Amino acid sequence: TVVTFVSHEGEKHVVPLEEGQSLMRIAVNNAVPGIDADCGGEAACGTCHVIVDPQWSEQVGRSGASEEEMLAMNPERLPTSRLSCQMTASADWDGLVVQVPEFQM
Ligand code: FES
Repeated sequence: TVVTFVSHEGEKHVVPLEEGQSLMRIAVNNAVPGIDADCGGEAACGTCHVIVDPQWSEQVGRSGASEEEMLAMNPERLPTSRLSCQMTASADWDGLVVQVPEFQM
């Protein structure tokens, strides 16, 4: 079970998907570049922003209210943007692909 983080430059980081962990934690644990996670997962900093591959957006679900507030302030926000700290990895996300934006806020 893996998840792929794709950098702005197109570099792929394929890492094990640990069920029940936040996607942010998985990125940090595997030293994926570009996920700063300054607030430690409180949906309060916006520096764990990822853009979910549109094919996966339905399956991983939409952003919640506090997450939406943070995303609304982000100029790099796209329709499938999420805060990865608010995404709890599920076993059926095997093969998930997310893009890491060029800059975190
Ligand atoms: Fe701060 Fe996700 S880690 S918003």
